[in-house]
Amino acid sequence: MQAGLIDGRAQAGALRARVTEEVAALVRDRGIQPGLAVVLVGDDAASQIYVRSKGEQTIAAGMHSATHILPGDATLKVLLDLVQTLNADPAIHGILVQLPLPAHLNPNVVIAAVDPDKDVDGLTVINAGRLASGLPTLTPCTPLGCLILLRETLGDLAGYNAVVIGRSVLVGRPVAQLLLAANCTVTIAHSRTRELPAVCRQADILVAAIGRPEMVRGDWIKPGATVIDVGINRAPFRDPVKAAQGRTRVVGDVAFKEASRVASWITPVPGGVGPMTVACLLQNTLTAARRIHGIVE
Ligand code: GUN
Repeated sequence: MQAGLIDGRAQAGALRARVTEEVAALVRDRGIQPGLAVVLVGDDAASQIYVRSKGEQTIAAGMHSATHILPGDATLKVLLDLVQTLNADPAIHGILVQLPLPAHLNPNVVIAAVDPDKDVDGLTVINAGRLASGLPTLTPCTPLGCLILLRETLGDLAGYNAVVIGRSVLVGRPVAQLLLAANCTVTIAHSRTRELPAVCRQADILVAAIGRPEMVRGDWIKPGATVIDVGINRAPFRDPVKAAQGRTRVVGDVAFKEASRVASWITPVPGGVGPMTVACLLQNTLTAARRIHGIVE
């Protein structure tokens, strides 16, 4: 068997096109242009790339984009003051503070300062609680992207056994909540789970959100399963010449070739879940703008 590829780039392109059309209609009919503010503290190279891409895609969707870059030694007060200014800015409907923050800034304190109505990351306690309670919310972007890919691939998810590896606030927990809301039978596995390969072999849907390169092996996969790989890791090249040059390649949390021989469907890395994250961020910003202006979806 050779698994089919779940094309995140194509799905993300379709979602961005839909959001772009709906933004144009909101501007035309109501004079409302959704606005997204992204805050980056410090000069982490990967974060800089993500933040630039978010700004470019926001503008391409016809939205207002504001990028705020603070120095790596910015104080908590300066960051909280900026968040408060954005909370009060009527041109801004979505606020995203790029994580990770430098070690001296407590992310929980910063996230708690974001107005839940503008929390397009879905990370505030209010929005996480709404998700866990099955209420309308702003859903974290990467988990939302995973669910869209699964629905497009499998249709109705009711009754599937889903195993999520990872319990992070950013991905593992909200993915599990979304799968539960979609009527899957959900197991959350993590670093202390016993017999992890055997647990994974029960999964019709396996979501890997661990952050360890190629940890999930082919013999962890139930034949015919659908595998969603959230990992974006840098690993040395297998080719010793390239490895000796210190070059790295991007790999997921799943050993792709092995898993592809067993699964029915699998997301590649790159080109799977990654592109969906920003598309869902745009979708959330549109949703936030509509709700702030009292427009019923
Ligand atoms: N860093 C990596 N992924 C994310 C994300 O989804 N949101 C934020 N705020 N930071 C991130």
